[in-house]
Amino acid sequence: MPPVATNRQPVPTSEDLVALLRGVVDPELGSDIVDLGMVRRAIADPAGAVVVTIALTTSGCPLRAQIQRDIRARIGSVPGVTDVRIEWTEMTQAEKSSAMAKARWNISQRDEQTSLGPSTRVVMIASGKGGVGKSSVTVNLAAAMAARGLTVGVLDADVAGFSVPRMVGLEGRLGGYEQDGHKVMVPLERTMGDGVIRVVSMGFLVEDEETALMWRGLMLNRGVQHFLQDVAWGDDLDYLLIDMPPGTGDVQMGVAKLLPRAEVVIVTTPAVAAQKVATRAVSMARKSYLRVAGVIENMSAFTCEHGTSYPLFGAGGGEALAADAGIPLLGQVPLEPSVSAGGDAGQPVALGSGPAADAFRAIAGTIVEEAVPPPELAGCSARMLEAAVAALDAADATDGAKSLTASATAPAAGTAPFSTQ
Ligand SMILES: Nc1ncnc2c1ncn2[C@@H]1O[C@H](COP(=O)(O)OP(=O)(O)OP(=O)(O)O)[C@@H](O)[C@H]1O
Ligand SMILES: [Mg+2]
Repeated sequence: MPPVATNRQPVPTSEDLVALLRGVVDPELGSDIVDLGMVRRAIADPAGAVVVTIALTTSGCPLRAQIQRDIRARIGSVPGVTDVRIEWTEMTQAEKSSAMAKARWNISQRDEQTSLGPSTRVVMIASGKGGVGKSSVTVNLAAAMAARGLTVGVLDADVAGFSVPRMVGLEGRLGGYEQDGHKVMVPLERTMGDGVIRVVSMGFLVEDEETALMWRGLMLNRGVQHFLQDVAWGDDLDYLLIDMPPGTGDVQMGVAKLLPRAEVVIVTTPAVAAQKVATRAVSMARKSYLRVAGVIENMSAFTCEHGTSYPLFGAGGGEALAADAGIPLLGQVPLEPSVSAGGDAGQPVALGSGPAADAFRAIAGTIVEEAVPPPELAGCSARMLEAAVAALDAADATDGAKSLTASATAPAAGTAPFSTQ
């Protein structure tokens, strides 16, 4: 029996905690902190107070604050957890060499798990039921984030019922090239404001939606896997937004397995009745050890030009879900004809004006600045790379890492996970 907290929520076990910590990536070393051997201990007492002991490669590690934030965000959002304390320690020389060897190994095995760079933040846009506006939210958030100067990927995981191509105003075929005997797909791109979106969808691979439907059982999961593994997303990608299909938990579980660092944003409608279904989506994400970063209420009250508000689809659902699940309400997007008109015209409303556009821009701001901020890499990458190379050389000179033949200083062009800024 797991210990039980006073609030009667079961307390996570150490195994649960370690699974959650797999979502914390050291963006410099390109691997998660569990894999790198940085997690010494992770336990929760019966009252839900968690202590995590992390061994850093160097106690002055500039990424310490980043790692701390990520651990707090991931573990702190789990029901039953009442407090998160982090203890720091430093690796021994031998542990350091082994972590660096692991990092070097990861550099040479880039395509092992996915083709995403280590500093790309991944956000899944999911819901309990269909038609609540996942695709509209995905596309508009991508547009609003790009308009802030970011590079944003959009992965249309709705393989059989894709709607992203039309909504972003892109059509055509995915380009591709061969690399080491396997095909790499190149996303279609569109500039938005100072930034850019890179989009991959089944709609760029098949002739029409009918053909796509035929792929259903066969491709549903494999299709998404290909999009994560065989697409040249680019190491400069700041965010990848994944537009999830309605229903099926298979795709979500597939993504969770490949990308434990993915975070989930739940879209719900304002009807309090919709809350139950959305709660299921939250618990499904948590069962896969994914962090739920927040809720977006879509199709909230429509306000006419005279200022009268019409809550056509009810009110309060988003707030109720957020309170119930203990996650922030990131914002409310009003029901507004411009949202669907923008979707049909391939011109996301977030690039224009009006209450819905303002709401999308505000939510994008909250995600980038608070809920899922990009890792702070500036100023330390080159230093860390130097330290990594020195440690690797030392390890090579003595023992262990000799069998790992790849060079940490010269990963293949365009695939270097280290940013040099
Ligand atoms: N805030 C809004 N105001 C007006 N119309 C909206 C709004 N959000 C979404 N819509 C419209 O509602 C319909 C469903 O939206 P969308 O396709 O984004 O939902 P979805 O959750 O992705 O659906 P599915 O589950 O089928 O993938 C679309 O026609 C879209 O234009
Ligand atoms: Mg959709």
